[in-house]
Amino acid sequence: MQINGKTTLYAIVGNPVSHSLSPAMHNAAFQATGINGAYVPAPSADIAKTVASLRELGFGGASVTVPHKEAVMASTDILDPVAEKIGAVNTLAFRYEEGRSVCTGLNTDWIGSNKALSLHCELKGSRAVVLGAGGAAKAVAFGLLEAGAGSVVLANRTYEKAVQLAETVGCTAIAVEDLAHEQADILINTTSVGMSPHGEQSPIAASLLPSYSVVMDIVYAPLETRLLKEAKQAGCATVDGLDMLLYQGIEQFKIWTGVTPPAPVMRAALEEALSG
Ligand code: ATR
Repeated sequence: MQINGKTTLYAIVGNPVSHSLSPAMHNAAFQATGINGAYVPAPSADIAKTVASLRELGFGGASVTVPHKEAVMASTDILDPVAEKIGAVNTLAFRYEEGRSVCTGLNTDWIGSNKALSLHCELKGSRAVVLGAGGAAKAVAFGLLEAGAGSVVLANRTYEKAVQLAETVGCTAIAVEDLAHEQADILINTTSVGMSPHGEQSPIAASLLPSYSVVMDIVYAPLETRLLKEAKQAGCATVDGLDMLLYQGIEQFKIWTGVTPPAPVMRAALEEALSG
């Protein structure tokens, strides 16, 4: 990658961002496609000021992560209707015309989880159980409903939060204790349970896994979580946390450049960054 006077800059905006794998993934995509762009970390304590700075500096776009995905909406000029419906923006795209900047806010998280899952099963008409009730659960559940899933059920440690989210996205909530009575094709963990240094934990009993065809974990450290290990042993197809990150990133790159980047190159860059 050659940085010169014509290089367009992109950023990951969040707090913190030093642990982010996105720079490795997107810079590998710029390199592979030969597009003159570079992607840098932009730690932000004040999202409104950061977006103003990105405009001022002529950035092409940005990824937005915790804790700014909701607050950043106020700094956009155009809000994609799907991002508005989800209530979160993870992607900014800047256009510059007649001396002024136009900032569009979008959401690719739901596309990332749909794409990662659809490589293993048909989403239309499927039945899914989503563990968790935070921002990731919202994007995943929304995506499944958008893809025409037959049923989406949320189960969360704090039951009230599952009920609230289920109302917002238009699906069902159950108590964690009732997971044993649930029949579904797809299971997705959107909680942080099983994340290093608590890799010995799993969000669901292994005895419940054989009834699912596909199990996805959004945790990617470790890459093979206890949940995914036990799901494999139970005969399920498994989707690791890097795939959701990868496919939402591919969608961002397409939005910014109009070019579809090579998934294997980006996946390899993510794996290298994770192990490095
Ligand atoms: P994100 O926006 O990344 O989804 P979040 O909003 O902090 O993150 O949500 C984290 C989710 O993981 C929540 O559903 C949380 O459950 P609570 O609503 O009960 O807090 C869940 N979670 C985190 N740690 C957990 C644990 N040890 N056991 C079960 N669920 C846990």
